[in-house]
Amino acid sequence: MDNLIKISPSILSADFSKLGSEVVSLEKAGADYIHIDVMDGHFVPNLTIGPDVIRKLRPLTKKIFDVHLMISPVDNFIKEFSKAGADIITFHPEATQNTEKTIKLIRKENKKVGISLKPNSGIELVKNHLEKIDLVLIMSVEPGFGGQKFIPEVLNKTKEIKEIIKKKNLKVDIEIDGGINFENCSVAKKAGANILVSGSTVFKENNGDLKKNIEILRKN
Ligand code: DX5
Ligand code: ZN
Repeated sequence: MDNLIKISPSILSADFSKLGSEVVSLEKAGADYIHIDVMDGHFVPNLTIGPDVIRKLRPLTKKIFDVHLMISPVDNFIKEFSKAGADIITFHPEATQNTEKTIKLIRKENKKVGISLKPNSGIELVKNHLEKIDLVLIMSVEPGFGGQKFIPEVLNKTKEIKEIIKKKNLKVDIEIDGGINFENCSVAKKAGANILVSGSTVFKENNGDLKKNIEILRKN
């Protein structure tokens, strides 16, 4: 079971004074993806990094850049993030006037498409797009900050989406993001998530032993 599970550590919890070496350490520690949280201080009440930082990180690793755009408007930045080196571009439907159009813009860049649902956002925002996307990102915290508490109510929504994906026999990943730790990672997987995002648990537990923390999340 665990080799089907991917771990995508969020660099929001990394040391921003040395992001380059942190990304290299994550690769060495066995991360499957690098989760990059982009925030604009408008869609969410926090401001992080933009395409220029991603462009600088890109040559340091071959690992998949799992870019989570918590920005609005989003369409006019898709090309920028694609050119900067994003591999998966995930957006929030509430951040665009037209979800179809945003999906097409990402497809045009030949990147993988993700749609992210905030804890209180219903599956109706993604249900009719499942055939056109690669990933559903279920937020298990309110977007904006690392280190928050996991919201277990999102597990029902996760199960529902997993059911639809299975019934339609689609190849869509389910990524869960926010407050994932050693205690709740197994219920997240049981609910249907096959990609776990983790910031604070990966960077802070076991004195910051990245390899050990990634392994525990993958295996538990
Ligand atoms: C929150 C971000 C998450 C966050 C995860 O808005 O989208 O990716 O960084 O960090 P932890 O694992 O600490 O909740
Ligand atoms: Zn995220």
